[in-house]
Amino acid sequence: MNKGLQNFPILITERLTLRQLSIDDTAEILLLRSDDEINKFFNRKPSRTLNDALHFIKIIIENDDTFYWAVTKTGDEKLIGTICLFDFEDDTAKCEIGYELRTEYQGQGIMAEAARNVIQYAADTLGIKTIDASTHKDNKSSTTLLQKLNFKNLESINPENPNLISFRLIKFK
Ligand SMILES: CC(C)(COP(=O)(O)OP(=O)(O)OC[C@H]1O[C@@H](n2cnc3c(N)ncnc32)[C@H](O)[C@@H]1OP(=O)(O)O)[C@@H](O)C(=O)NCCC(=O)NCCS
Repeated sequence: MNKGLQNFPILITERLTLRQLSIDDTAEILLLRSDDEINKFFNRKPSRTLNDALHFIKIIIENDDTFYWAVTKTGDEKLIGTICLFDFEDDTAKCEIGYELRTEYQGQGIMAEAARNVIQYAADTLGIKTIDASTHKDNKSSTTLLQKLNFKNLESINPENPNLISFRLIKFK
């Protein structure tokens, strides 16, 4: 999958605008990636400085194989979360989804709204037939979100990390 940097898709939902990540998002990316409440479910090196956040953004922008949207409330440019499609397998029309939202914006249906639109874009425009997701077994909000979006628990054990639950979406409508 090669998305082409010139044509990054902007997705508009009822309340949200999903747009391309930019270096102007550095402060908000730092807030997100330095938040211990958010990081506890991710196996990643947290961003601790503006430079860390900027470095992360540059890697994302330069990576032509990943769709990485900044989630914003329409009318306000400020990034409040992110949602991405990655690990595309062209032969099986499969990819993976990931997302995170600033703590104060959680529990308002924001990620469900963003994810529904991203999934629709993946199916209708990219021709994706399967989307995988994995989440920590104690991550209730992410598990609830995936179930709400019709992802099914694969009931498989991840050999690299048994604490992760693997979900899969194959019925898009
Ligand atoms: C996972 C996450 C993106 C969910 O975003 P969100 O916008 O709060 O989710 P929504 O408001 O759309 O909620 C979806 C469902 O989860 C439920 N939910 C939300 N927060 C919850 C919580 N803290 N505990 C339990 N359920 C929760 C909602 O009630 C909703 O179900 P409902 O409509 O039946 O009530 C957000 O909690 C987050 O960013 N968490 C930290 C990062 C993370 O875990 N990312 C995923 C890693 S795999």
